[in-house]
Amino acid sequence: MERRLQDRVQRYGWDRAAHAYEAGWSNQLRPGQALMMEMAAPRPGEHALEVAAGTGLVTVQLSDAVGPEGSVLATDISDFMIAQAADAIGDRGNVTFARVAAEDIEVGERRFDLAVCAFGLMYVADPAAALACMREALGEDGRIALAVWGARANCGWASVFPITEAKVRSDVCPLFFRLGTGDSLHLELEAAGFHRVEARRISTTLRYESGEAAVSAAFVGGPVAMAYARFSTEVKALVAQEYLASIEPYRSGGGYEIPGEFVVALGHNQP
Ligand SMILES: C[S@@+](CC[C@H](N)C(=O)[O-])C[C@H]1O[C@@H](n2cnc3c(N)ncnc32)[C@H](O)[C@@H]1O
Repeated sequence: MERRLQDRVQRYGWDRAAHAYEAGWSNQLRPGQALMMEMAAPRPGEHALEVAAGTGLVTVQLSDAVGPEGSVLATDISDFMIAQAADAIGDRGNVTFARVAAEDIEVGERRFDLAVCAFGLMYVADPAAALACMREALGEDGRIALAVWGARANCGWASVFPITEAKVRSDVCPLFFRLGTGDSLHLELEAAGFHRVEARRISTTLRYESGEAAVSAAFVGGPVAMAYARFSTEVKALVAQEYLASIEPYRSGGGYEIPGEFVVALGHNQP
């Protein structure tokens, strides 16, 4: 898809999703974010660049880890996501924000110890260009840490994309699961010039207490929010029904336990 179009889909889609994002995804993404932070191991006094920071779930952790002597530049393509992240950060004093697409990040003379991106790279039209920007922003000893969703077959919620696409050509990241398949993320990091790359794949479970909560996460607070917002009431009911049918195998009591998979990777600027 043409980059300008994908950027618009992402920017305005996530603007719409922002208010429902944490309710639908913060618990679900936590194990992937935690492993990414463990591998990134930010230290007091370090300077971190965060890409696709969203509502600031990782930003807050980075801010705490680097402390008052360090800094975090948190970036995202969506104004609404950044506004929420800024609220979450409050007056900590060591975080600044910029609304910028991952492929357009320019930091001038500034150099960072660490660049991170949790669950953002799948949405970027040109991940190689985004990785190049992150590498450019790093100092000689800099490192990069990334988290993405795993393979489609291991993500029980993946039906949300074809269900939405069947109703409207939504153009939401046709290559969504590419980076999480096989060695893709590892290879992508090496192709971008990173060294000593280490990638780990972990299984996870997305728990929702009701069908309503699972539907809200998938359609209102997630990647297809823009397409869903434009559906009529009837079509919204239909896609919800289809999605619930697709996750029926994962029903547990009154809620759902949906399998998921994350791939988390670390790379270094120097051999
Ligand atoms: C699933 S959220 C992840 C947010 C956060 N990193 C987290 O772990 O909770 C995906 C984020 O990617 C952002 N995004 C999508 N396309 C982007 C792009 N091309 N450049 C920068 N951010 C982008 C969205 O605005 C959204 O905030």
